[in-house]
Amino acid sequence: MEKKFMTKLTHLGTEINMPAASKPKVAPLYMNAAYCFEDAETLEALGKNEIKGYLYGRTSNPTNDCLREILTAIDEGEDSQVYSSGMGAISMAVMTHVKAGDHVIVNKVIFGTSYKLFRAELRDKYGVEVSFVDFQNDDIEKYFKKNTKMVYMESIANPIIDVIDIRKIAKIAHEHDCLLVVDNTFATPIVCQPITLGADMVVYSGTKFMCGHSDILAGIIVANKKSMIENITDVGHSYGPIMSPFDAWLMIRSLRTLEIRLRQHCSNAMKAAEFFEGHKKVVRTLYPGLKSSPVHSLATEIFNNGLYGGMVSIDLGSEKNVNYVIRNLKLTKLVPSLGAFSTTVSDTKTSHGAMTKEERDKSGLSDGLLRISIGLENVEDIIADFDAALSKI
Ligand SMILES: Cc1ncc(COP(=O)(O)O)c(C=O)c1O
Repeated sequence: MEKKFMTKLTHLGTEINMPAASKPKVAPLYMNAAYCFEDAETLEALGKNEIKGYLYGRTSNPTNDCLREILTAIDEGEDSQVYSSGMGAISMAVMTHVKAGDHVIVNKVIFGTSYKLFRAELRDKYGVEVSFVDFQNDDIEKYFKKNTKMVYMESIANPIIDVIDIRKIAKIAHEHDCLLVVDNTFATPIVCQPITLGADMVVYSGTKFMCGHSDILAGIIVANKKSMIENITDVGHSYGPIMSPFDAWLMIRSLRTLEIRLRQHCSNAMKAAEFFEGHKKVVRTLYPGLKSSPVHSLATEIFNNGLYGGMVSIDLGSEKNVNYVIRNLKLTKLVPSLGAFSTTVSDTKTSHGAMTKEERDKSGLSDGLLRISIGLENVEDIIADFDAALSKI
C-alpha cells in the first residue's frame, strides 16, 4: 500500500504543549531560523518595532536572548548581542560605529587578527585612518584628531599580558567624544568589568574562557547603552554573522560554571607564574599577579576579587628555546587558541601570524615568547610538565 508522509513531516511538531502549571528549568534550544505570522500586517508592525516578537533568525532568537540576558548582567551593561565568532563580534562593534574618513586609535599590542582587521580591512580597504599607539608608554592624548571616533584596546593584552588603566583611557576618549571598546577575552567579567571602569563597549572571543570547553566559536558584545546594541543588531542583519542558537545554548551551559572555572584558572596561573619566576631557564615571566610585575598594583586596583586571569607568558630568550619546550611538553599541547579546561601553549608567530614580522617587532612581540593558557588540572601536574620540558633546554 502506498503511503504519503511529506505533509505530516513538514507540518507537525511545531506546537510546544507545555502544561501551564510548569515551565522548563533551563532555557530550551530554539533551533529555529524563521517564524510564522497570522497576517502581513502583524509582520509589518513587528518590522517597525511597533509590537514585540521574533522576525527572522539572522536578527534574533529566544535561546540567544536567554544568553544575552546573562551576558548583559555579568558585565553590568544595558544590552548585548552574540555572534558566531570573536572576530564577528569585533567587526560588528567597529563597523557599526566607524566609517570612511573617521580615525581610530588602537593599542599596538592586540590579538594578531584584530590588528589585521584594523590595518588590512578598515585602513587599506575602507578608508578609515588607524593609529597604532603604545598605550602603556606613550601619551595617547596627542594622537586624537577632529575625526577620531573610537579607541580600541584589550583589558589584558595578547600576548604580553599587559594591563592598561582602562579608567584613564576612558576619561581621555570621552573628553574627545570618542567611544572606548575593550576586548575582555583574557580576563572575562569575573576578573575585569570594563564597562564599570568607563568603557562603552566590551567585546569577547566567547570561544575562549567564556565557553571554556573548546567546542564552539562565539563572539560577544556588551554595551553600556541599549541604543548601541540596537544599531549593531541592525548592521549585523546586513552582514549576517549571528550566533547559532545551538552555540548559544551550549554557551549558557558553560556560563553556569564561569566563576568557579575562572577562580581555578587564576589560582593555578598564580602558582605556575611563581614557579616560572623562580626558574633559571625563564628570562622573564609576564603575569600581573606577581608582586614584581610593573602592572601589579594597577591590576590589583582595577581587577575583581584579587584575581589576575588564567594567562601567563614566559620569555625563553629565543624561538629555538620556545620550540624546544613545546616539543618536550607531554601533558600540555600546542593549540592556536586559549581559555580551555586544559593547559595549552601558543607561540607568538602563531597567535600573531596575521601581523608581519616588522609589525610584531614594532609592537615588541618577541619570537622568544611562549603564551600559556593555564587550565584546570591539578597545578602540581602543570608545573611538573613545564619543569621537565624546561630542564631539556
Ligand atoms: C584577545 C582575542 N580577541 C579576539 C579573538 C578572536 O576570537 P575568535 O577566534 O573567536 O574569532 C581572539 C582569538 O584568539 C583573541 O585572542
